[in-house]
Amino acid sequence: MSDPKQKYPEAYEICEKFMLNKQHMDEIVNRLTKEINMGLTRDTHPRATVKCFVTYVQELPTGNERGKYLALDLGGTNFRVLLVNLINDRDIDITGKTYAISKELQEGSGIKLFDFIARCLAEFCKEHKMEQSNTPLGFTFSFPCKQVGIDNGTLVAWTKGFKAEGVVNQNVVELLRDAIKRRGDFKVNVVAILNDTTGTLMSCAFNHRNCKIGMIVGTGSNACYVEKTANTQTFDGYLSSTKPNMIINCEWGAFGDNGVLDFIRTSYDHEVDKQSINPKKQIFEKCISGMYMGELVRLVLLELMEKEAIFKGQTSQSILIKGKFDTSFITEIESDQPGSHRNAALVMDRLGIRTNNEKDLGCLRFICETISTRSARLAACGLVCLINKMNVKDLTVGIDGSVYRYHPNYHRLLTENMNMLLKGSVKFELVLSEDGSGRGAALIAAVCAK
Ligand code: GLC
Repeated sequence: MSDPKQKYPEAYEICEKFMLNKQHMDEIVNRLTKEINMGLTRDTHPRATVKCFVTYVQELPTGNERGKYLALDLGGTNFRVLLVNLINDRDIDITGKTYAISKELQEGSGIKLFDFIARCLAEFCKEHKMEQSNTPLGFTFSFPCKQVGIDNGTLVAWTKGFKAEGVVNQNVVELLRDAIKRRGDFKVNVVAILNDTTGTLMSCAFNHRNCKIGMIVGTGSNACYVEKTANTQTFDGYLSSTKPNMIINCEWGAFGDNGVLDFIRTSYDHEVDKQSINPKKQIFEKCISGMYMGELVRLVLLELMEKEAIFKGQTSQSILIKGKFDTSFITEIESDQPGSHRNAALVMDRLGIRTNNEKDLGCLRFICETISTRSARLAACGLVCLINKMNVKDLTVGIDGSVYRYHPNYHRLLTENMNMLLKGSVKFELVLSEDGSGRGAALIAAVCAK
């Protein structure tokens, strides 16, 4: 392909600002390492931005976990109730139901949100004739929570699209138990609360014993990893625990909230942040995850359209609206075969711009690639930081989330960039972790119920 700098000079000038070189990336790894150490250390934890919450999950699955468990999954665009049957060391059967979480539920009262969750769970239990079975339940709640036990997590702040009132600073397990009690028509045993990254790590570890990191690149982005218990100072038993390891939920989405990423942020990043429901929060996440990637592309497109450097003479109402360029469009556009612009043309058509102009559609693809490449490079920095921190030479990383799952090149981009940073010194395998929020929650519930 010809040089984008020659071909799309105006677009290149903007996209250049999103490009990260090795020096940037090494610096990001260093800064994240510092922030993680602050999160782990008792004295600095209160003012740390990357909180590194202890999860109270100290054991990985052995493969001997068996039985039926319920799992709730709240944290993305959908809410799910799942029944997970751990049959043997290979077979796990999952049946479940997915419910949309409306904007009203995400942004309304917390009581209503939890009543909705309890109602879905009640219906599900009725359908499966398990109202009185008191089945152990793992609650995957994918937001930053301060835990003081495996079944006790206080929401520190909402992230992603959520802002339901009256939940921050509350123990969400209690809110769930209360909502179930208010109904009084079924019984479950809520045994654990977990983050989706923890579920992803557990689910992956069930098949890959060498799994030490769980990462999500979906609506949000975050990772957890296996730390030595002795290094987890915010855990009261950190010196006396007989268990050598502790999974740490980094909450790396908040990396940069204190300004340490400003050296790579663009004016478009600042705009996305300003228009979000949580300005100045989740800065790393806003550069990486699916909730924001499409919006970055839209802002770049808008500027180029204003300059008449793309789609000249065409206007579209919908492209002017925040959020109209979904991140799934990036995936579609980058899935076009080389030389073809079929998906790109379809996406633009949906946005009200009908064109077959090859140069414009090629330019659109170049913008998408710029945003997804930056996302993957940043995620690679995060993973390399954790790998260096654990000082392991061989590991598996379990990954989930819509961006990793559906983007055609994300896996390759992650791998290449990690190899570049690690200079081949570590053997790693990146695997798609199947349904961490369900399987992982069941595995943790199984370990707890033991
Ligand atoms: C957000 C949440 C975090 C979660 C991630 C991925 O960053 O704060 O808890 O793991 O999204 O869903």
